[in-house]
Amino acid sequence: MARKIAFINYKGGVGKTSLIVNTAAAFVKAGKRVLLCDFDTQSNASIWLLKLDRWNKINSSGEGAVYSIFEPGKSHIKDLIIRDVIEGKSGERLLPGLDLLPTAFNLVDLENEYTGDPKRPPYLVFQEQLALVEPNYDFILFDCPPNILRASQCGIFAANEICVPANPDALSLIGFTLLVEKLQKFHMLSASFRRASMGPPAQVHSIVFNAIKTGVDIEVPKMRMQLRLNQFRAAKRVAANAKILDAQIRDAMVVRRAVTLGLPVVLISQDAADPSQDNVVNDYRRMTLELLQQA
Ligand SMILES: Nc1ncnc2c1ncn2[C@@H]1O[C@H](COP(=O)(O)OP(=O)(O)O)[C@@H](O)[C@H]1O
Ligand SMILES: [Mg+2]
Repeated sequence: MARKIAFINYKGGVGKTSLIVNTAAAFVKAGKRVLLCDFDTQSNASIWLLKLDRWNKINSSGEGAVYSIFEPGKSHIKDLIIRDVIEGKSGERLLPGLDLLPTAFNLVDLENEYTGDPKRPPYLVFQEQLALVEPNYDFILFDCPPNILRASQCGIFAANEICVPANPDALSLIGFTLLVEKLQKFHMLSASFRRASMGPPAQVHSIVFNAIKTGVDIEVPKMRMQLRLNQFRAAKRVAANAKILDAQIRDAMVVRRAVTLGLPVVLISQDAADPSQDNVVNDYRRMTLELLQQA
């Protein structure tokens, strides 16, 4: 079975998409097969990995984006997945092993106009289809918006674990607390749709501090987060082995540049292949190694 991880925090702008794209690339570099599912209507991960021209074709036609699976008989996940998504200028595959289930702006219709069969909520439709492609992957990662509305629910219902990206500030801590509360409610609501083969509902397994500026001491916000995590662990509201990862991601200009270039940082940085370098590429590498050990 693939490990399925939803990246979510109730606070926006913490660096979820940057983290998921670069973590996915680091997993691929470690020899893993990865599917990234974009469930954020803003489509940032899809635009990043496809670059604007390819993504625009999907967005303007509405064909080929994940929303199609919710229109009965229209599309199946297996036909929407874009294999080896990252391409160079002449269409060469730059990172074989990283696949994308893209989204477009029409995903917002799932929250408003969608009137599907209430006996088959969107998250069930998604989970059933995902199960058919799951054997192709070691990791399936879900980029979720900062809420637990229908799109997010798809990732959370299918996931086995949750990774919470956080910044060293009070709002990230509030976002984490709110997330744990909302998760509990969603798991209760969706319990009757779970099959035993899916395993238990996803709990928070990891918290990762992101965009840490040089010289900024994060001990106090980290300690506050740890205290909250300890309380949730004692109350069994997060996974028994839930932890703040030792690896943390520094603030680096190359992460911002990466979006414009349509590449993960590992394909930009000159010394990316050298694991002894002290750089952001190795922050992501350390994070993936820690996640691999945590399994
Ligand atoms: N490690 C980092 N270093 C520098 N900038 C970062 C880093 N992580 C994220 N950012 C920047 O922060 C902003 C928000 O990141 P993004 O990944 O879009 O967050 P989210 O998906 O949570 O909304 C973006 O401009 C992104 O380039
Ligand atoms: Mg995002």
